[in-house]
Amino acid sequence: MSASLVTVAYIGAIVLFILSLGGLSNPETARRGNLFGIIGMTLAVIATVIGPRVTTAGYGWIIGALIVGGGVGLYAARTVKMTQMPELVALMHSLVGLAAVLVGYASYIDPAVSIGLSPAEKAIHELEIYVGIYIGIVTFSGSLIAFGKLSGRIGGTPLLLPGRHLMNLVAALVVLYFGYAFLQVHSISEGMMPLIVMTALGFLFGIHMVMAIGGADMPVVVSMLNSYSGWAAAATGFMLSNDLLIVVGALVGSSGAILSYIMCRAMNRNFFSVIAGGFGSDGGKKPQVGAGETAIPQGEVTPVSAQETAELLKESKNVIIVPGYGMAVAQAQHTVFEITKLLREKGVNVRFGIHPVAGRMPGHMNVLLAEAKVPYDIVMEMDEINEDFPDTEVSMVIGANDIVNPSAQDDPNSPIAGMPVLEVWKARTSIVMKRSMASGYAGVDNPLFYKDNNRMLFGDAKKMLDEVLTALKA
Ligand code: TAP
Repeated sequence: MSASLVTVAYIGAIVLFILSLGGLSNPETARRGNLFGIIGMTLAVIATVIGPRVTTAGYGWIIGALIVGGGVGLYAARTVKMTQMPELVALMHSLVGLAAVLVGYASYIDPAVSIGLSPAEKAIHELEIYVGIYIGIVTFSGSLIAFGKLSGRIGGTPLLLPGRHLMNLVAALVVLYFGYAFLQVHSISEGMMPLIVMTALGFLFGIHMVMAIGGADMPVVVSMLNSYSGWAAAATGFMLSNDLLIVVGALVGSSGAILSYIMCRAMNRNFFSVIAGGFGSDGGKKPQVGAGETAIPQGEVTPVSAQETAELLKESKNVIIVPGYGMAVAQAQHTVFEITKLLREKGVNVRFGIHPVAGRMPGHMNVLLAEAKVPYDIVMEMDEINEDFPDTEVSMVIGANDIVNPSAQDDPNSPIAGMPVLEVWKARTSIVMKRSMASGYAGVDNPLFYKDNNRMLFGDAKKMLDEVLTALKA
C-alpha cells in the first residue's frame, strides 16, 4: 500500500474514532460508537501493517503479536467479571504506559532512527523520547497501583509521607536537570544514565502519586490515568513519527482530561490539584471548619423484611431507586428491572437516581441498567433528581453507601466532606439494601443507617430483591 493510501486510511480511522467518542457519550448511541471504534481500529491496524513502513520480514512478528494479544484480549473479555472491569481498565492503561517506555528506549538505542537528522531535529527527537518515557513510566506505575487499589489488593487509606509535596518537587527538578543533561550527551551510552535515572524517578513518582490518594478520590484517578495513557500513546506516536497514533493519543488524552474535569466537579474537587497529582484526603474544596474528629454515627437501626418492603413500594406514588456498587456485585440489575416493570404497571412512578461516581468506573450503573433494558428516560442524573426526594414515598438504595452518605454534607471532618450525594433520607422512607453494617469504598461510617425514617434490608441484593419481587407478585 502506498504512503498516500495509508494517509487516506488513517484519516478515515480518525473520523471513525471521533464518531466513536461522540457515540460513547450517550447510552443510546454507545453501541454504535463502539462499532465505529472497532472498525476504525481494524482499518488503522491493516493500513499500518500493509503500509510501506512495515517490511515483509516483520510480518511473522506482527502475526505472532496479533495472535498472542488477540488471544489474551478474547480470554479476558470472556472471563473477566463485570465487577472486575475497573481494575482491568487500570491494567490496560499500565500497558499503554509500558509500551511508551519500551518504544522510547528502542528508538533511542536504534541508530537507524537518527540517521540523517539535523542537530535540531535530533534534539527534538531526543526530547520526544525523554518526555515520552517519563509520561509512559508514570502512567505505568500509577496504573499498577490503581489496579491494586481497585481490586482491593492495596488498601484505600492514603499514604501521606511527611514532606511529600517537597519530595515531588525535588524529583521534578531532578528529572528536569537530567533532561537537560540528556540533551547534551554525545553518545547513546552516555545518554543511558540520565534516561535510567529519570525512568526510576518517574516510576517512584507514579507509585507515590496514586498511593497518596484516598479511596473516595479514586474515580478521579481512574479518569486521570485514562488521560495520561492517551498522552503516553501520543508520545509513542511522536517517537515513531506515526500521525495516527499522535491524533488518537491526543483524542484519548483530552477526552480523559474532560472526564477528569467532570469527575472533579461531581466530587467537588479541584481539577488542577488533581492533574498535578499528590492530592488526597486533605485535597479539594472541603469546608475547613477547624480541626476535629470525624463524627461516629450512633443509634439504633431498624431492620425491615422483604415483605414489608414490597408493601411500602406498592403503597407509594413515587419511588426512586439508587443503585451502587453492591448491585454490580450481586448482579441484581435484572431483578431490579422486573420490580420496576411490575410497579410501573401498578401505576407507581419509579425512577432511578445515578450518582456520577456510583460503582467503580464512570457510567458503571448506566451500563448495568442498560444491560437489563431499563428505559433511559427513567434513569436520571443526580442533579436532575436530587430535589425530588422530598416528594418521594420510598427511596430504595441497592448496594450503595458512600454516594448516599449524609456526612458528606454534615460532617466537615469526614473524608468525603463536600462531595455531593443523593439525598435519599429526604424521602418519606428510605430503605438500604446491603449485607451488613460495613462501610463503603471510602471506609466512612454512614449515619443514614441510623435515621428514624430509614430501614435496613439486610442480605445479598439479588436474593433480597428476588424476595421483594415474589412478595409483589403474591
Ligand atoms: P460503596 O460506597 O463502595 O458501597 C457499596 C456497598 O455495597 C457496600 O457498603 C456493601 O455493603 C454493599 N454490597 C456489596 N456487595 C453487596 C451485595 N452482594 N449485596 C448487597 N450489598 C452489597 O459504593 P457506592 O455507594 O456505589 O460508591 C462508590 C464508591 O466507590 C465511592 O466511594 C467512589 O468514590 C468509589 N469509586 C468510584 C469509582 C467510579 S469511577 N465510579 C472508581 C473508584 C472508586 P455490605 O458489605 O454490607 O454488603
